[in-house]
Amino acid sequence: MLGALELACRYRAWRGGDQKNRKPHKQTPLTKMASKLNEESISLESVMAEFKLSNTTLRRMMLHLSDNMDRGLESGLEKSTIAMLPSFVPELPNGKERGKFVAMDLGGTNLRVMLMEIEPGEPMRTKQFNTRMPNAAMHGTGAKLFDYIAKALADFLIERELANENLPVGFTFSYPCDQTGLRSATLLRWTKGVTATGCVGEDVVQLLEDAIARDGRVKVEIVALINDTVGTMVAAAYEAGGQCDIGVIIGTGTNASYMEDSKKIVHGLANATDKYTHKQMIIDTEWGGFGDRGEADYIFTRYDKIVDSRSDHPGVNSLDKLIAGMCMGELVRLVLERLCENKVIFNGNGSKLLRTVNTFPTKYISEILHDDCGSYMNTRQIMEELGIEGATFSDMLLLREVCVVVSRRSANLAAAAIACVLNRVRKPFMLVAIDGSTYKYHPFFNHWVCEKIRELLDPGLDFKIVQTGDGSGRGAALIAAIVSRVKKEDEQRQRDLEARLKKEEEDVERKKREIEAEKLEAEERGRKMSELLKYQLERGAEEYHLRSDDD
Ligand code: GLC
Repeated sequence: MLGALELACRYRAWRGGDQKNRKPHKQTPLTKMASKLNEESISLESVMAEFKLSNTTLRRMMLHLSDNMDRGLESGLEKSTIAMLPSFVPELPNGKERGKFVAMDLGGTNLRVMLMEIEPGEPMRTKQFNTRMPNAAMHGTGAKLFDYIAKALADFLIERELANENLPVGFTFSYPCDQTGLRSATLLRWTKGVTATGCVGEDVVQLLEDAIARDGRVKVEIVALINDTVGTMVAAAYEAGGQCDIGVIIGTGTNASYMEDSKKIVHGLANATDKYTHKQMIIDTEWGGFGDRGEADYIFTRYDKIVDSRSDHPGVNSLDKLIAGMCMGELVRLVLERLCENKVIFNGNGSKLLRTVNTFPTKYISEILHDDCGSYMNTRQIMEELGIEGATFSDMLLLREVCVVVSRRSANLAAAAIACVLNRVRKPFMLVAIDGSTYKYHPFFNHWVCEKIRELLDPGLDFKIVQTGDGSGRGAALIAAIVSRVKKEDEQRQRDLEARLKKEEEDVERKKREIEAEKLEAEERGRKMSELLKYQLERGAEEYHLRSDDD
């Protein structure tokens, strides 16, 4: 890629004379102000240097991340920006799950309702319905949001004649929740731009159950509320025969889950509604919050700060904004805007749209990078959509380079966060499951993440990445299945225990009866003996008297 950059710079120098003759870009009051604020001269190299992170910096970040994870486990958000939330999921699937389950998945902008039939040894049978969440639902009242979800669920079940089967539902709700049980979770805050009112601080399962009751058309049982990373981990484990060490999402937001020893989950288990008796539990790290108290300032560029200050939730979920898809496109746009103002690209002309906030969606980055070497089909199409005219070959190379540098930084940060968790899990071979649009659609992200984890992982540890499609939805159904299997196993254990106790009680009773009978028998024997003795004594006495009378 640096080759391409060098080529672009040389091409620009060669075209220098030609470019000097172009009409200069007319500055608006806004761009004039921005230029004044940024009077130091900039080049593509100087801008790009801001996004480059050395392995020393990444290792420093890993130390801070790990330290925050320890403090999160111990004291939660009070002492850490990484919440380390308990999921109350005690184990991964073991292949013995069976039954019919419903999964609902509300993550970034989509809602998915799925029906899954699970039989051991057979591929899962899935029927699903996807819809884009309307803006009015994501940014209106909470009641409106949950009514929308309840209606989608009811329509789905009625269409399949399953309205009254009281099917178990796993609900993937990919926002930070303070869970006190599998089906009780208080929303801590909205992330990823959602602003629906009246939800923060409320029990999300209750909000959903109320909405289902208001709709009134179907009967279901919400058995678990889970995060999308937990679902991804569980779905990957189901496919890999029971093993998965970390579930990661790199989509609109980013986050990871892994299995932790219950005794380390001090804060998360302090308020559990029921006593948690299992040895382990999946932890939803919520690593997206890292940096919210300024502890990652050494990573932030001026562009990150602008994106954050203009976001719906400034200062919230900082690592999300550095890594995930919600802000990546806007970061590229800001860099392009600045390069354009400094006449490094598009000869300073750009377009009105390029200077407008949020006009460069993250999918543009993947599309630009998908262009085959030498072909600029997608790039030209995108420039047309942005109203950029007269771009040169060099401009297209530069545009591509900006996309590479911004998204590569995101991949490096994601890799550092993953390596940090793997260094904590510390197994000789670990399986990493990754899902999410940003990861899936970018042509090099997977390669970059893998390469960087190798550089940052402690010696002696090894890993493999698997891409898990639909993990969050399938995972919710699987967790509903695990819950009912564990419940059945617990019930069976309880039944076995009761049967054993009953048998022990019966044995004790029998023993008591035997002892009692023996006692009665002994008494009887004693009585008979004393009767015999008495009889013999009497007979003796009689004989004595008779003999004395005879004398
Ligand atoms: C955000 C949410 C988190 C979710 C992640 C990926 O970071 O806070 O709960 O897992 O996005 O969707």
